[in-house]
Amino acid sequence: MSKQRIAVAVDGPAGAGKSSISKVVAKKLGYLYIDTGAMYRAVTWAVLQKGITPTDEAAVTALLPTLTLRLEPTDEAFTVFVNGDDVTEAIRSQAVNQAVSQIASIKAVRQFLVAQQRAMATSGGVILDGRDIGSVVLPKAELKIYLTASVDARAKRRWLETKDKETISLEDIKASVMARDEMDTNRKESPLVCVPEAIVVNSDNLTFDETVERMIQLITDAEK
Ligand code: CDP
Repeated sequence: MSKQRIAVAVDGPAGAGKSSISKVVAKKLGYLYIDTGAMYRAVTWAVLQKGITPTDEAAVTALLPTLTLRLEPTDEAFTVFVNGDDVTEAIRSQAVNQAVSQIASIKAVRQFLVAQQRAMATSGGVILDGRDIGSVVLPKAELKIYLTASVDARAKRRWLETKDKETISLEDIKASVMARDEMDTNRKESPLVCVPEAIVVNSDNLTFDETVERMIQLITDAEK
């Protein structure tokens, strides 16, 4: 009998490699990959583009019904659209990095996005990555993985990814990663947590390919 494809929740702190790893794992297994962080980033982009102050919760909340988000799978990953505008590159900017954790702490934003994430995850064979997937979005996921690494390793990887696109020092990236972790862990609404049933994967001493292999192993073991 063929194995049952499952729902996989991948959570962890900023820059742990959740999206780059999950993307490759999903492709290799033929799973659907949903980057929930890209959705919080897309809302943040729209807030900034409208000139709304990220701490103005009423204005952010009022903007939500006007936003249509779409993640369109491509060969490489996916293209992110907000009301038809391709924001795939723009949502990775430093301006979005700085405001996203504030936007993600707003209850109305979370309700708006979690509903869409659950609707996208109804079929078997999905990997969702974020902060609250195992705890809130898919509490019944058959497999929960907490992907982490030391803050220095995470900052260094993020810096290597961005240094050709934006001029920013390793120290500034590290400060931004730590600030996001702090907000994501301590917020009232759906904070980042490692649920007790999650399998912790620390990638400090693993290469990218080794981390991919480890995740594939965990998923194939969890498929019934
Ligand atoms: O990839 P990186 O670790 O930089 O972060 P991301 O997954 O793109 O998420 C960006 C931000 O969105 C996080 O710092 C959180 O503030 C927020 N987020 C969240 O609150 N809940 C999620 N499920 C996913 C992201």
